[in-house]
Amino acid sequence: MSAKVLSAAVIGLDARIVEVEADISRGLPKVFIVGLPDTSVQEAKERVRSGIRNSNIKFPPGVITVNLAPAHIKKEGPSYDLPIAIAILKASGIIKSKSEVDRLFIGELSLDGTLRPVKGVLPIALLANQIKGSELYLPMKNAGEAGLVRGLAIYPVASLEDLIHHLSGEKKIKIFKSRAQRIDHKLNSKYDMSIIRGQEQAKRALEVAAAGGHNVLMTGPPGSGKTLLARTMPTILPAMTFLESLEATKIYSVLGLLPGDTAMIRERPFRSPHHTSSAVALVGGGSHPKPGEISLAHRGILFLDEFSEFSRQVLESLRQPLEDGVVSISRASGSAIFPARFTLIAAQNPCPCGFCDDPDRVCTCTPQQIIKYQKKISGPLLDRIDIHLNVPRLRYEKISSTSVSESSFSIRARIEKARQVQTKRFKKTNITVNSEMTIRDLEVYCQLDEQASLLIENAVNQYHLSVRSYHRILKVGRTIADFSNSKSILTEHIAESLQYRPSGI
Ligand SMILES: Nc1ncnc2c1ncn2[C@@H]1O[C@H](COP(=O)(O)OP(=O)(O)O)[C@@H](O)[C@H]1O
Ligand SMILES: [Mg+2]
Repeated sequence: MSAKVLSAAVIGLDARIVEVEADISRGLPKVFIVGLPDTSVQEAKERVRSGIRNSNIKFPPGVITVNLAPAHIKKEGPSYDLPIAIAILKASGIIKSKSEVDRLFIGELSLDGTLRPVKGVLPIALLANQIKGSELYLPMKNAGEAGLVRGLAIYPVASLEDLIHHLSGEKKIKIFKSRAQRIDHKLNSKYDMSIIRGQEQAKRALEVAAAGGHNVLMTGPPGSGKTLLARTMPTILPAMTFLESLEATKIYSVLGLLPGDTAMIRERPFRSPHHTSSAVALVGGGSHPKPGEISLAHRGILFLDEFSEFSRQVLESLRQPLEDGVVSISRASGSAIFPARFTLIAAQNPCPCGFCDDPDRVCTCTPQQIIKYQKKISGPLLDRIDIHLNVPRLRYEKISSTSVSESSFSIRARIEKARQVQTKRFKKTNITVNSEMTIRDLEVYCQLDEQASLLIENAVNQYHLSVRSYHRILKVGRTIADFSNSKSILTEHIAESLQYRPSGI
C-alpha cells in the first residue's frame, strides 16, 4: 500500500512543494528514504519510529520506502519528520481520512512524539497561501510566525498523537487565530543619542545618513566615541513599514534566528560582525546557499567596527551588494538571491596606533605603515560611501559638560519627516531613499539653484573632485534639502554636503 502527503522545502528564501510518498511492502522490517535526503533527513527514520511508538501505535512492519519528490531538490533538516510519519501511517491504513483539501505538514519529531519548532516557516506559509483552500500543520511554537500570512488555515500541532486524532476526526485541533501585528518601534534607551557628549558634527552626519540611507565611514583616534556613535544609530532610524518588516522576517525565519517571543522583526536590524569574519559569514554562501550578515542587516544597519582590520577579500565582497541591494550566490547545488539593502556604518582608526591626526599625541607609526593601512580599503569601495566623517578626541570642556543633548526621539521626528518627502518624490519608482538614486535620477531630482551650482563648480575645480565625488555631494545635498522640504538644493545644503567628502579627494 502506498500514500502521499505534501510538505515543503526552503531554497534560498523561497519554498517549494515536496511530495512525501510512503510505500509498505512485505519483507524484513526496514525503512529507506530516497529523493536526495541529507543526513539529517536520513535520521528521520529513528525519530519517526520512536515518535509513532510513543503515540501508542505499533510501528507498521515490513519494508517501508519513503520518497521525497521532486528528486532533484536537495532535502535538508528535520522538518520532514512529520510528513514522513503521516505518510507511513496513511500507507499502513492507520489514518484513513480522505481529504478534499491540500494539507501541508512540517515539523520535527521528538522521540516522545511531541513536535519541535523548525526553520523557514514564513516562506512555507507564503507558499501554502498560494494554494487555494490549503491547510498548514506545523509545530505549536511556529504558529505565530505562520500567522503573519493572513487568511491561511493554520493548525498548531502539539504532538503526533493529537494530529492522528485530528485527521481521523476523533478530536479536532483548534485552528490558529493570529493577532493583528503592530509595528511599534521601541527606542533602545541604553544607547540614546543624548548620552553622547559633544560630537555635534558627527551626530548631525548620522542624522543625515539615517534620513537618506547614506553609508558612513567614521575615522578617529581610539576612544573618541566611534563605536558609541554607531550603536546609537538604530534609535534614530525611522520605523519599519509592514512590508520591510516581512522581508526581514523571512531572512531570520530561514536561518531560524527569530527571537522566541516575537514572530516578526519589528525593529530595524543592527548587525556588527567581528573583523575576523569570513566572506561567507558576511555576504552569505555555503553549499546550500544561506544568507549572511549583510542580509540579516537588510533594511537596517551593518556596522563594521575596525573597518581596515577586515581582510581585503572580505571587504571587496561587499562592493556588489552595496551597489545592487541584493547578493546573488551561485553554487553547484543551485543559486540564490538574497536581499541586502542595508546602511553601512564603518569605523576605523586613521593609522595602526590611531593618533596620526591627533594634534596633541605623538603617532608612533612609520609613514609606510600609515600608507599601507590607509590603502587597505580600495577606491571603488570608498566610492560607495557617501559620508566621510572625522571623529576627533573630545576636549575636557566637552567631556565634563553637563548640558543636556537632544534625545534620539526628537532627532528621529526630523528624520521621519525627511523620509516622507523622499517617499512622496519616489512614489512612482522603486527607490526608497536618496542614496539609491542612479546618475539619471540625479539629473531629474537634484536641481540646484544658481548660487549652489556656482559653489559646487568652484569646489570641483579647487579640490579637483572626481565625478563620483560630485554625484555624492549632490545625493547628500538632496537629503539635507529634504529636511527643510526644499524643492531645489540651495547653497547651504551643498556647503554642508561638501563637509562630508573624504579628505584628500
Ligand atoms: N562623546 C562621548 N560621550 C560620552 N561617552 C563617550 C564619548 N566618547 C567616548 N565615550 C565613552 O568612551 C569609551 C570609548 O568609546 P568608544 O565608542 O569605544 O570609542 P572608539 O570606538 O572611538 O574607540 C566608551 O565607554 C564610550 O561610552
Ligand atoms: Mg571602537
